[in-house]
Amino acid sequence: MPVEAAYSDKVMEHFTNPRNVGEIPDASGIGTVGNPVCGDVMRIYLGIEDNVITDAKFKTFGCGAAIATSSMVTELVKGKTIEEALAITNKAVAEALDGLPPIKMHCSVLAEEGVQAAIEDYRKKSGITNEQ
Ligand code: FES
Repeated sequence: MPVEAAYSDKVMEHFTNPRNVGEIPDASGIGTVGNPVCGDVMRIYLGIEDNVITDAKFKTFGCGAAIATSSMVTELVKGKTIEEALAITNKAVAEALDGLPPIKMHCSVLAEEGVQAAIEDYRKKSGITNEQ
């Protein structure tokens, strides 16, 4: 059985053709998270206007599942409010990809945490700039 048979077509498609790769210059928030299990790193960039995520990009140094979940989560958060984006779980990202093999579920945690870290960064920054 080929190794990639463990992955859904959607995972393979997002891995080979990832959406939203890159950086956002002057991003509203940037979140960098690492996976202690494997040492992989994901960085999420968010553009936020009026509490809505208008743009999302990523740079991920990681496995295929990390790339695919980065791609999917950046698609999922676009157009969402901050509160809606914070409610996206790693399980929801994996489900949007038609599932991940159980041993790769930990990779999807990076996507959830990356978005949360980017929003935290945004809140910290806007707290400073909104200071009166
Ligand atoms: Fe490291 Fe997947 S093996 S994130």
